[in-house]
Amino acid sequence: MSTPYQDATLPIEERVQDLLSRMTLAEKIGQLCQTPMLEFEANREAYLEGVRQGRWGSRILADTAWAGNAPGLTVDPSTLNEIQRVAVEESRLGIPLIVARDVIYGQQTVLPIPLAQAASWNPQLVQEAYRGIAREAASLGIHWTFAPMLDIVRDPRWGRVIESSGEDPYLSSQFARAVVNGFQGESLSDAESLLACAKHFVGYGAAEGGRDYDTTEITDNTLHNVYLPPFKAALEAGVGSLMSGFNDLGGEPVSGSRRLIRGWLKESQGFDGLVVSDWGSISDLAYFGVSRDAAGAAAMALKAGVDMAMTNEAYEDHLANLLDAGDIDIEAINDSVCRVLRAKFRVGLFESPYVDEQRHLDVMRREDHVAMAQHLAEQSMVLLKNRQQTLPLVRTGLKVAVIGPHAHSKRQHLGSWCLDGKAEDVTSIYEGLIAAAPELEILTEPADFSDDMVECARRADVVILCVGESHRRTGEARNIAELALPAGQEQLITAIGKTGKPLVVVQCGGRPIPSPAAEQYADALLFAWQAGTETGHAVARILLGYVSPSGRLPITMPRTTGQVPIYYGRKPIGKMRDFQDYQPYKDESAEPLYPFGFGLTYSQFSYKNLHLSHQQLDSSENLSVTFELTNEGAVTATEVAQCYVRLPVAETTRPTRELKDFARITLKPGETRTITLQISPEKRTYFALGKQQDFDGQLEVFVGGDCNAKLQGLCELPPGREWHAPGQTGCADHWL
Ligand code: BGC
Repeated sequence: MSTPYQDATLPIEERVQDLLSRMTLAEKIGQLCQTPMLEFEANREAYLEGVRQGRWGSRILADTAWAGNAPGLTVDPSTLNEIQRVAVEESRLGIPLIVARDVIYGQQTVLPIPLAQAASWNPQLVQEAYRGIAREAASLGIHWTFAPMLDIVRDPRWGRVIESSGEDPYLSSQFARAVVNGFQGESLSDAESLLACAKHFVGYGAAEGGRDYDTTEITDNTLHNVYLPPFKAALEAGVGSLMSGFNDLGGEPVSGSRRLIRGWLKESQGFDGLVVSDWGSISDLAYFGVSRDAAGAAAMALKAGVDMAMTNEAYEDHLANLLDAGDIDIEAINDSVCRVLRAKFRVGLFESPYVDEQRHLDVMRREDHVAMAQHLAEQSMVLLKNRQQTLPLVRTGLKVAVIGPHAHSKRQHLGSWCLDGKAEDVTSIYEGLIAAAPELEILTEPADFSDDMVECARRADVVILCVGESHRRTGEARNIAELALPAGQEQLITAIGKTGKPLVVVQCGGRPIPSPAAEQYADALLFAWQAGTETGHAVARILLGYVSPSGRLPITMPRTTGQVPIYYGRKPIGKMRDFQDYQPYKDESAEPLYPFGFGLTYSQFSYKNLHLSHQQLDSSENLSVTFELTNEGAVTATEVAQCYVRLPVAETTRPTRELKDFARITLKPGETRTITLQISPEKRTYFALGKQQDFDGQLEVFVGGDCNAKLQGLCELPPGREWHAPGQTGCADHWL
């Protein structure tokens, strides 16, 4: 007999309440627990009995923490259906399991790593590409992904920088929206959508020394101005879930922070979705020493507002006893259960719990998914150097040596947080060049012997040397102390450079790594990241000039590790007044090697005639920033025009530059276009002294092709006021 919660015509809230009213305590606690994949593989009958009893609300398709480092088990739709059938048909209330997997930037079609995606400065394309990834993952029976990662990163020694959009809150916010929209689509209940999860809430990227899982210390001002904005953007985009991080934030481990989760997120931002812990981050509270044992940790996390325990027994083992003892109340459990059920209703699980076991055969690596991955790979690569127009290569009559540790690599281009991509689907750089230019004579050598590579270079007219990090050196728990290429690669670049042959270095990897040898010897330097299955095609099309490079750095490239943390949005220094020629370091410049926003094309662009829509502005008006952009070169190319601001006087010190808008513009040779960028009222606010407030006084505006943008204008803003986002009641000061 059908019950009201099975009636899809009723509003979700009614169905949630109806179902809640029928649940036993054990069933409620079950909804708050997630099991890993291995439990099933290890003990099938016991697992199915657990499902029958309603012991778990979710199943994660991963067998270890830092799953990205150990992509072991594959997803099998028929197993998922088998388990789901027991949940739906044999458990008392028939509540389906929500199936989760870390689909971070690809399923079988693999996009560039998120840091590279951010280098495209093309959120629209990223959104479209993620529709394809969601479609592939959903076709296997996955409902929920643990992405996007929204951690701001200003220390690239941290291995997880690959999963971030870099150092800037505005740029990261644009990608937060894009990825959430891409995963969740128009409707979460669409069979081609995934529930997204904004992570890691919050501040995990500020790990001291770039050491994963380490302590974070973030002031309230920086938390609100830098680390929270991407989460706000994800919330605005309707993200259905968030993950609480591993980190201790200023003495308060986030997964136990009532102030941040129940307070800021749920109360002040009105988030009615689901918060899941990170892998074991609930019992970590006992390790941190903020609770005495796992039971205390469970109580603390539940009170803080962590709704579901990822693969963690703390909730399963202790919530019932804690309730008996009066240490937690039933309202907190009910609230968390409602959030889990709400997510399941939103995803459409009650209507369609099963997956069509054949569907993935038509969906994996669909032509449009692959095309999108290739566009994104092309747009993410950043040309850092191009002496005397070494690039693009002429397409005929040349002997080209394609050598180096990454000339033939495949798996490496998938990056470390890729569970289901297949190395055999990756086009290597060597293969990409052969496919794109059959008329070139291409010489190569296996990656291992540097003497042979030098010989090969000598026989060529031009050398493409592919260097960089392997995926095993990036990702979770894979930090490096020194921002340097792996052992031997500086020497290899030097040896090849000394042959005197024109040298193009293609640098692969997951973080900005300076190379002194490439600086000295490379005629051209293309930063290719870990660009996914289509890496080889994208590199070839750029090197051969089929497309002009259009990526821009989403993170500052330091000269040396000692400059870290280095990012463009730094605060002013008081003593600059007295010491005009002050140098922060005696032994190194304070300037980055390449600044945030930087990237070359095969053309040059000029910016002229900046016009601001207002000299004086009302607090509710948009400030339009108009200028003329001209392609001064001989080829069609794409510029990323960037608009920065500075607020010279404010309640607290402010960054010397802040990105506020940008646009990708493709112009033909000689073409000029009038471009308008926007600084809306929402972008003219900041958090200071416990409140969100308007910018006021003078506003300096800069426009150009990187964070050192030169074209400048000035506008007068009205007196500031405390500010609340539309529809919000305030910043809930008592939570701050
Ligand atoms: C990571 C998360 C990930 C989870 C599940 C953890 O180790 O920090 O980002 O989603 O594992 O695989």
